[in-house]
Amino acid sequence: MRRNETSRQATIESLSRDVLRLSQLLTKERASLPQAYLRDRGLREAYAAYYLPVNSTKIALPLRELDRHPSGILRKDRLRVLDIGCGPGTSLLGVMTFFDEQPVRPALAFTAVDQVAENLRIAETFFQGHRGASAVSATLKTLHGNLETGIGAPEGPFDLVILSNVLSELHAQQSERLRLRSGIVQGIMERLLDGNGSCIIIEPALRETGRELLQVRDTLQQCGFRVYSPCLRNGPCPALEQPKDWCHEDRNWEPPSTVREIDSRIGLRKDSLKFSYLVVRRDGKILADCVEAGAWRVVSEPIVTKGKRELFLCGNGGRVRTVRLDKDADQGNAAFSGLARGSIVRLEGAFPEPGRVKVVRGTIVEIDANSTAGETDRLVK
Ligand SMILES: C[S@@+](CC[C@H](N)C(=O)[O-])C[C@H]1O[C@@H](n2cnc3c(N)ncnc32)[C@H](O)[C@@H]1O
Repeated sequence: MRRNETSRQATIESLSRDVLRLSQLLTKERASLPQAYLRDRGLREAYAAYYLPVNSTKIALPLRELDRHPSGILRKDRLRVLDIGCGPGTSLLGVMTFFDEQPVRPALAFTAVDQVAENLRIAETFFQGHRGASAVSATLKTLHGNLETGIGAPEGPFDLVILSNVLSELHAQQSERLRLRSGIVQGIMERLLDGNGSCIIIEPALRETGRELLQVRDTLQQCGFRVYSPCLRNGPCPALEQPKDWCHEDRNWEPPSTVREIDSRIGLRKDSLKFSYLVVRRDGKILADCVEAGAWRVVSEPIVTKGKRELFLCGNGGRVRTVRLDKDADQGNAAFSGLARGSIVRLEGAFPEPGRVKVVRGTIVEIDANSTAGETDRLVK
């Protein structure tokens, strides 16, 4: 028994060292991230133990938003899912977990692509293990391929194409990045995505990768695609107007014990899910179809200072600083105190001032009950 515990501690110790190495590569040293760094066995194991549980939970948010649409976007007998840059199968597990919780479940036909063959083997193993404990009927095909030079010819079209934490790993000079990334997504959407399908892109919540994703967003819109979510506006992204702004999520999350244990050894904190995402479609359906006209999305943390509470809201009127003085709090605007990053909200009778909008006595603040800001997401086991 004691020997088991000693060997478990040694495993956690060595995993922790590799998670730290990986974390530095993915943040501080990101500009010089080696190509195919997951060919390194230690980094691969660290990714599967630490980043897989964190990242696989993120896909639930775009899926929930797609599932809100009254046209029943995800309500199909069979859903064909292509995960490109699948790593150890992160999003496959996230998609299965999401559908496990639905009353009606499509059969899931996954195709997973990665440039590192060892990742595909790990993805297959995790997929088999997860499927054994899941109520979902699912199949998996894996393909060894490179997004930049060719991923072969996966049998499409697909209802969902997922690019999770891969777009910002494509190697290109800064001046070429936008063209490369937008061109790749555009090509995938035109060649591999069903006319009623959705492309889900997830990226780290870092300012640089987040802003680059917003640039891809604007380029895709110029090419005629529609952003389904998170945006509730159709025009160019207003966060790009100021060099310090970007847009990301920050959701409450209960990390599993291994992640907590590794965090406590190396001083990282994965106690919330931070990420940027984009859902793009070809058919013009948008999340705004299912929320009140003129709704706004909260795109900042609440900024609470003496005597007032402020937030940035984004919607058709742009990205707007919105303030309520504590003395103006009343029953009708009480919901302003409960707004968090990601909430969808409607304001009636707010007062526009130069550079900001003021919530005053008599303003009605209504939170969209289905916008799940701040909620704790279920863990992928
Ligand atoms: C950060 S991991 C993300 C894994 C998983 N999608 C997730 O969100 O956890 C990036 C993955 O993309 C793969 N990748 C990077 N560039 C690629 C390319 N050009 N073609 C195919 N796969 C690529 C890497 O091998 C790695 O498995």
